[in-house]
Amino acid sequence: MEPTFKKSDKIFRFTVGERVAHWSHAISFFILLFTGLGMISMFFRPAVGIVGGIDVARNIHRVVAVLFVVVFVVNLFIGEGGRNVRAWVREILAFDKKDLAHFMIFPFEFFGLHRPYPPQGKFNGGEKFNSALMITGMVCLVITGFMMWFPTAIPRVILQWAYPAHAGFALLLTAVLLAHLYLSLLHPDSNQALKGMFNGYVPAKFAYEHYEKWYYKVKSEENVKEQAKREIAADG
Ligand code: HEM
Repeated sequence: MEPTFKKSDKIFRFTVGERVAHWSHAISFFILLFTGLGMISMFFRPAVGIVGGIDVARNIHRVVAVLFVVVFVVNLFIGEGGRNVRAWVREILAFDKKDLAHFMIFPFEFFGLHRPYPPQGKFNGGEKFNSALMITGMVCLVITGFMMWFPTAIPRVILQWAYPAHAGFALLLTAVLLAHLYLSLLHPDSNQALKGMFNGYVPAKFAYEHYEKWYYKVKSEENVKEQAKREIAADG
């Protein structure tokens, strides 16, 4: 039987570490994109004037790239960061038939035509695909970026591919990001996820409708905790 929800019912989705990781990633991506566009195209050259010109933009690009890598590595080792990243990667790798079904229906969802799909885990098929693309793309950007930064350390035959690969991955991720922004900010159904990226909580009804498997997992964990608390209280 489908549960009933009050408007105020909510469910915890993202820890502080996950939110800090997401927002630091988002901010560095935008800075890297802005300064990168200034380097790659004369069209954007006047815009980088606001940071002091192309030479300053080049330096900002390098500093933020290093900070991005450092923040990621630190996040892996501090608090629950590493556990969360491993859980996220495990979840993405466990891409099953139910995720595929969601992924196939996703284009309809995107344009507001809701179709029923099988119950999803913490991340649905579309989000798993987005995550996998982001991780692969970011790793490739970091590798090709450092190759261009230290060109004398890299054989010429490999280096010549680093330039188009870096620009290509940046543009691919930007296209995916535009869809991500539309879903998180404007899409009338999906934009409820945004609350979770600010205070950690999403509406329970939204969680049930979008991530039914995950919703029941969290609820059963809560029930086990409640039961344990009751038993401890009863033991005095
Ligand atoms: C203003 C900018 C952004 C907003 C408003 C935003 C919003 C969100 C929200 C609400 C979620 C949680 C979805 C859920 O509940 O599962 C999320 C997840 C995620 N975001 Fe962002 N985001 C932004 C920028 C970025 C950027 C720049 C990147 C990477 C380049 C990024 C990558 C991801 C990834 C990989 C996930 C997890 C998978 C997914 O939910 O698709 N986000 N974002």
